[in-house]
Amino acid sequence: MTAQPDRPDLPGKPTSASRTTLSHIMTGSDTNLLGTVHGGVIMKLVDDAAGAVAGRHSGGPAVTASMDEMVFLEPVRVGDLVHVRAQVNWTGRSSMEVGVRVMAERWNESTPATQVGTAYLVFAAVDADGRPRPVPPVVPETERDRRRYQEAQIRRTHRLARRRAIKELREKRAAEGFDDTREAREN
Ligand SMILES: CC(C)(COP(=O)(O)OP(=O)(O)OC[C@H]1O[C@@H](n2cnc3c(N)ncnc32)[C@H](O)[C@@H]1OP(=O)(O)O)[C@@H](O)C(=O)NCCC(=O)NCCS
Repeated sequence: MTAQPDRPDLPGKPTSASRTTLSHIMTGSDTNLLGTVHGGVIMKLVDDAAGAVAGRHSGGPAVTASMDEMVFLEPVRVGDLVHVRAQVNWTGRSSMEVGVRVMAERWNESTPATQVGTAYLVFAAVDADGRPRPVPPVVPETERDRRRYQEAQIRRTHRLARRRAIKELREKRAAEGFDDTREAREN
């Protein structure tokens, strides 16, 4: 892996070094009005697993910067054993994209686990003052890891373009005299 000027001392870390799985049995307190598991309960598990991976990869604290593309494919039910698998897909200077796959083993079926969701999160590694700090480059090991790395780069490009476009729109509106900050304060 080529050393980069802003992180010359950080050797690469393989994907497998931080990959992890968090497992949890769903209980009655996790349900919504329909009796299936609340999406927010799954999102918490996703954030927990991704945070563990980001901390392990970066060797210190890391905070959730964004969570996008959380997709729920199938409902999760009380009694299901949910496995949340997370790995670092991509690294930037101080940020990491963590990909998460959510699987459910049905408590009443002896079938293979069903994929019930996926998510992509960006974590920023931070120092003791909460400022972004450099992370080791992730080293994809398998063809699947390499595909995930390339797809993560596409998502990164889109995130940056979206943020830039919205920032430019707001600056343009401010220059035209619209006070959007006042509107946000009032609502
Ligand atoms: C995330 C955070 C550290 C970014 O700080 P910042 O001063 O904006 O620093 P930067 O602009 O240098 O961003 C740091 C990295 O995060 C990335 N990043 C920041 N905001 C992002 C977002 N919304 N989506 C994707 N990536 C983001 C940047 O692209 C950058 O990546 P890079 O270093 O790999 O190029 C800061 O906004 C923060 O502390 N947020 C709160 C996080 C938190 O508390 N999460 C839990 C919520 S309860």
